[in-house]
Amino acid sequence: MAHIISGKALAAEVKQRVAQGVAELKAQGHAVCLRVFLVGDDPASATYVAGKQRDCAECGITSQLVRLPADTTQQQLVEQVLRASEDDTVSGVLVQLPLPAHIQEDAVIAAIAPHKDVDGFTPVNVGRLVLGQPCFVPCTPAGCLAMLRAAGVPIAGRRAVVLGRSNIVGKPMALLVLREHATVTVCHSRTQGLADICREADILVAAVGKAGFVTADMVKPGAAVIDVGINRNAAGKLCGDVDFDAVQPLAGAISPVPGGVGLMTRAMLMENTLRAAQMAAGQAAL
Ligand code: GUN
Repeated sequence: MAHIISGKALAAEVKQRVAQGVAELKAQGHAVCLRVFLVGDDPASATYVAGKQRDCAECGITSQLVRLPADTTQQQLVEQVLRASEDDTVSGVLVQLPLPAHIQEDAVIAAIAPHKDVDGFTPVNVGRLVLGQPCFVPCTPAGCLAMLRAAGVPIAGRRAVVLGRSNIVGKPMALLVLREHATVTVCHSRTQGLADICREADILVAAVGKAGFVTADMVKPGAAVIDVGINRNAAGKLCGDVDFDAVQPLAGAISPVPGGVGLMTRAMLMENTLRAAQMAAGQAAL
């Protein structure tokens, strides 16, 4: 039976540490504030943002939600993001994705100051991650890495397979485990022989967005399986990309959905926001 890597316990620990750091900064008179932009009325995005606001409240971080209508122009949004980037009272700036189709995400993300880019999405932070330099690491892959570490999963020299090549999860996840000296393969929708590749993985990270995509025959016995998916199955129940019941008996460690990566993503955002505030106070570097 696999060790269950609980995101809940670990996220609570991280947030407690962040709350302490926030309290220290605030006691010295420094602002710790996250400004979140939510454009349009995508219900899933609204739910994610509400979760982030709850975490901010728990950690003592001021959260400012800027809700904008779906017909906001790209220029209007870019102007607001630039203003937040220049505002000394704002520690971190986050633009919830996806944006409405008429807005180019790249243009908006580029308007976030790299030192306030708590999502780690700007070209500067992505470039720094590629180069192995200190940077803001995107929250979901950072959470996955923290879970692997907490479970004591060895990474150096091991084979890691990442399913999915998104800018938010797959690509930065691959870079993170590469930085930890894993041998990394990134699989995607056009990968041939995907099941065979997965079976070689000591660490398997699933970020495909399809319920039950990873089946037992794709998992090497003893492997660590991190499930990034947040899907609804046919019965409407929240589930990940991994067939948990079938994979759990043979995996060495596995993260559940719900109660896994999602909570850690949010905890890492709190950590990044604290770091941005510490940087603004001259108490930390990137
Ligand atoms: N949409 C889905 N995941 C994320 C995330 O981690 N950050 C932002 N900004 N938007 C998202």
